[in-house]
Amino acid sequence: MTVRLGTPLSDSAVRVMLLGAGELGKEVAIELQRLGVEVIAVDRYANAPAMQVAHRSHVIPMTDPQVLNGVILAEAPHIIVPEIEAIATEVLADIEAAGLATVIPTARATQLTMNREGIRRLAAEELGLPTSPYAFAGSAAELAEAAHTIGLPVFIKPVMSSSGKGQSMIDAIEDAANAWAYAQSGGRVDTARVIVEGRIDFDYEITLLTVRSIRDGQIVTDFCAPIGHRQVKGDYVESWQPQAMSAAAQASAQDIAGKVTEALGGLGVFGVELFVKGDQVWFSEVSPRPHDTGLVTLASQVMSEFALHARAILGLPVDVTLREPAASAVIYGGMDARGIAFEGVAEALSVPTADLRLFGKPEAFERRRMGVATARGTDTDQARERAREAAGRVRPVRV
Ligand SMILES: Nc1ncnc2c1ncn2[C@@H]1O[C@H](COP(=O)(O)OP(=O)(O)OP(=O)(O)O)[C@@H](O)[C@H]1O
Ligand SMILES: [Mg+2]
Repeated sequence: MTVRLGTPLSDSAVRVMLLGAGELGKEVAIELQRLGVEVIAVDRYANAPAMQVAHRSHVIPMTDPQVLNGVILAEAPHIIVPEIEAIATEVLADIEAAGLATVIPTARATQLTMNREGIRRLAAEELGLPTSPYAFAGSAAELAEAAHTIGLPVFIKPVMSSSGKGQSMIDAIEDAANAWAYAQSGGRVDTARVIVEGRIDFDYEITLLTVRSIRDGQIVTDFCAPIGHRQVKGDYVESWQPQAMSAAAQASAQDIAGKVTEALGGLGVFGVELFVKGDQVWFSEVSPRPHDTGLVTLASQVMSEFALHARAILGLPVDVTLREPAASAVIYGGMDARGIAFEGVAEALSVPTADLRLFGKPEAFERRRMGVATARGTDTDQARERAREAAGRVRPVRV
């Protein structure tokens, strides 16, 4: 296959449609723009981050199959890049089957990973990968029974949710009803179904960015250096790369990531989430797209995960080389307000090696990710300290 890039806004243009136009999509859009790709950003609200750097944008409910189909047919993209899970993925399957566009990585991958049941059954039951013990429940009573069988404590997560929404951990069976009710409030759609997972007592958790790309006419799989991260309520607050691992754990992590990404297929970056204890590794979940904890790669790698994704989906070769240890720290809105401003930016950037991304989201919420600070260091400890310091100096203010 020869790759041919074109001129945006002309007959030769390669058109890429981003479904989801958040901060991760914004960086992908910038990388595509650098290669002269025509970028169309779609999200459910106006002025989303990637829309601000796209050629065109559309504000639509992406969970509405008819509306989504209409926008895809009208724009006729060559490549469709889902950035979030809340999409009418059945439309993507039809578009792919009709040969109208390439869905990244594949329509099936987007369908399997938007539902915790699909990806968990694939990983554990078809591929035989180690995971936490689990069961699915469709009522508070089933949840209590599953918790009892698996053994406390357990995590309860709506099968259709992300970023920790509707997720809780219980230590006592009496809390099952509360956990069930909480899951119903946080699920994306009313599937009324949860996964109940036994807790893995891990030493640390990582994201293993795994890239499927074409090199010399063949699909090859490359692994980035492991990214360590810290999660609070299902949302990442800081990440660093590389996370030190034993050789056995690293080999096992790559084996798991290689198997799950091969089963999902297609081209692009995958964020494989793994739990590690000593030499033992468990599969947790996978994003068939760049991962939020991978924002650190803006500072750490020769090519960020966004550049890797842009290249891979266009059929171009990639380079996953780590340049130096680095870290990222999240900047939250700290308030509910529109059009906020940021003070302390100069002070943040005076921290050695620090850099910032302010995403330009039109509306802030208390716990909404509005930006990220990155920093490098001689080791990840120094990088983490610098990134946290820089992030802490940025002060969101109401105007
Ligand atoms: N079985 C488990 N054992 C131990 N910790 C867990 C387990 N499940 C989840 N966690 C913790 O909760 C975090 C969030 O879980 P998970 O990744 O499944 O949720 P999520 O809503 O998909 O989050 P995100 O969208 O941010 O990745 C994990 O990164 C881990 O820290
Ligand atoms: Mg996760």
